[in-house]
Amino acid sequence: MSLTGKAALVTGGSRGIGAAIARRLAAEGADVAITYTSSAARAAEVVDAIKASGARALAISLDSAAPDAGREAVARVVDEFGRLDILVNNAGIFPNGPLEEISVDDIDRTLALHVRAPLLFSQAAAAVLPDGGRIITIGSNLADRTPYPGITLYSASKAAVAGLTRGLARDLAPRRITVNAVQPGNTDTEMNPADSADAAADLPNIPLGRFAHADEIAAAVAYLAGEEAAYVTGTTLTIDGGYNA
Ligand SMILES: NC(=O)c1ccc[n+]([C@@H]2O[C@H](COP(=O)([O-])OP(=O)(O)OC[C@H]3O[C@@H](n4cnc5c(N)ncnc54)[C@H](OP(=O)(O)O)[C@@H]3O)[C@@H](O)[C@H]2O)c1
Repeated sequence: MSLTGKAALVTGGSRGIGAAIARRLAAEGADVAITYTSSAARAAEVVDAIKASGARALAISLDSAAPDAGREAVARVVDEFGRLDILVNNAGIFPNGPLEEISVDDIDRTLALHVRAPLLFSQAAAAVLPDGGRIITIGSNLADRTPYPGITLYSASKAAVAGLTRGLARDLAPRRITVNAVQPGNTDTEMNPADSADAAADLPNIPLGRFAHADEIAAAVAYLAGEEAAYVTGTTLTIDGGYNA
C-alpha cells in the first residue's frame, strides 16, 4: 500500500483506462476522485468499488474541456479529502477520419480536452499539491509515430501532451513535483475494443500480438505515482506491446 494517506484525482474515471487507474490507486491506499461527463451509473460503480476496498471516493460530473473545470475539480477534491497529492489527466476522445472532414469544432474540442485541460488541471493542482506531488497525463504512442492516415488531429494533440509534460516538469521540479506522461498503445476499452474489425487489421503491427489491458496502463501510473519514481520526471513511458519499436 504505497499510497496510503494520499489523495488522487483521475479525470475520465468512469470507464476504460481511467477507471482502471482509479481502482489501482485506491488499491494502493489512496483516496480517489474521478470525473466523468455522461456515465453517471458507471462512475457510481467505480466509486462503490473503491469505497468497498476501504478508501474514500468521489465522482464529479464535469466536462474537462470547460475552462473552469480544473479549478472546480481540484476545489471539490480538497474540500472532500482535505488534500490533493496526485493528478491523473486521462479524459480523452478519439477523433479520426479523412482530413477533409475535420471541422474547426473538432479541432477546438480535441485541443480543449487533450491539451488545454491537462494544462489547466495541472495549473490548478500545482496550487495545492504538496512538495513531492505527482502529475501524470495519459498521452498515446500515436504522439511519436503516425502509422496510418486519418489521425492527424489525435496525433497532434497527444504530441502536445508530451510537450506540456516536459514544460511542467521544469516548472515544478523546484518543489519535487514530478510530471510524466504514459503513452498507451492499443488498449482494450470502449474507445478501442480489441474485438473490432479495426483491431483485427492493426493486430499484425503489435509485436506482442495483443491489445493492452487497461490494468497494465494503470500499473505504470501507480509506479509513477509512488515514491520509487521520485527521480522520474519530464518523460514519456510508452506501453504499446512494441508497436512503435
Ligand atoms: N484505448 C486506447 O487504445 C488508447 C490508446 C492510447 C491512448 N488512450 C488514451 O487513454 C485515455 C482513456 O481512453 P479510454 O480508452 O479509456 O477511453 P474510453 O473508454 O472512451 O473512456 C473515456 C473516459 O473519459 C471520459 N471523458 C470523455 N470526455 C470527457 C470530458 N470532456 N470530460 C470528462 N471526462 C470525459 C469518459 O467519461 P463518460 O463515461 O462520462 O463518457 C470516460 O470515463 C484517453 O486520453 C485516450 O486518448 C487510449
